[in-house]
Amino acid sequence: MSEAPHSSSLISRLPGVETLRWREGRLELIDQRRLPGRVEYFACASAEETARAIRDMVVRGAPAIGCAAAYGIALEAARMKDVAPPAFSSGLDRAFETLAASRPTAVNLFWALERMRGIVEAAGQSRPPDLAARLLDEAHRITAEDVAANRAMGGHGAALIADGARVFTHCNAGALATAGHGTALGVIRSAVAAGKRVSVIVDETRPFLQGARLTAWELGRDGIPVTLITDNMSGHLMSRGEIDAVIVGADRIAANGDVANKIGTYMIAVLARRHGIPFYVAAPLSSIDARLASGDAIPIEERGASEVRGHGGLEWAPAGVAVRNPVFDVTPAELVTALITEKGVMREPDRGKIAALLKQ
Ligand code: MRU
Repeated sequence: MSEAPHSSSLISRLPGVETLRWREGRLELIDQRRLPGRVEYFACASAEETARAIRDMVVRGAPAIGCAAAYGIALEAARMKDVAPPAFSSGLDRAFETLAASRPTAVNLFWALERMRGIVEAAGQSRPPDLAARLLDEAHRITAEDVAANRAMGGHGAALIADGARVFTHCNAGALATAGHGTALGVIRSAVAAGKRVSVIVDETRPFLQGARLTAWELGRDGIPVTLITDNMSGHLMSRGEIDAVIVGADRIAANGDVANKIGTYMIAVLARRHGIPFYVAAPLSSIDARLASGDAIPIEERGASEVRGHGGLEWAPAGVAVRNPVFDVTPAELVTALITEKGVMREPDRGKIAALLKQ
């Protein structure tokens, strides 16, 4: 499946991006490695294929990989539904392990797998075909709930965005990173839908270029004005008064409000504080990991050296040069002006406020 390139006049009339969809018993993922050049779907028929798609960044973004992992379990259950119960059960255990090992930082992945595990445990001695049907229902439910959470978050967060605001974002926390609407970009979309004139500045987001390739494409399709900069330009624009607010997503939020998000987020939060610019984080409750006391305990994924030495098969650094590639960093809660969740806006998040939110 592929679409021809669009002229900008057509773009704003296109239907929303379908990041993941269930078609004829398979999970189809928009292949985010190919965007914006090609719109192609990548089909997964097993937990192993889904885990590979997560690891290889076919699908990425914390809520989206949670939904994909849930479907990975449903696929495996459907694939094995006719085998004897003991083999079905050990096959499912292996699927949980394979998916849990696909990426380490976004807690939504583990949160979704726990939801699926809960269905398995509640099913007791159910027949494999019945359990497979219940697991698929749960994956659909997780996906639908994510869209609903993003829309609620958008509604709460839109109030923070002034008419005419120039909003800076990093990475892609949009429809492509979720089941739909987006977290940070969902707030922007909701502000635009409420009649506010919002323009967006996004940085490239080296090394995987989620900002340049995905956010610029996604907002362009919606007709939301977007300007692309390189990762080293935001401080300059902030110092010149050209950015009114920063809004990003999150991969894992610790119990004290520290936020792990795409590498570079910490640097942007420090710059925003220096310039008195509000720094907002939009994330669903499924991104909060209350088991971790602070951001120091969040596992930070390190990816391969080739992502830093070059991109898309072209390497510009000397072959074999030593490389570090931590793909997330942690922003201390004290730099976060407000956390936007589906439950509302929490100003100056801290341990007490997060504990109270999780009890609501
Ligand atoms: O490595 P990625 O592309 O999966 O990282 C994604 C991010 O860091 C996003 O900002 C985060 O998942 C929030 S998405 C709503």
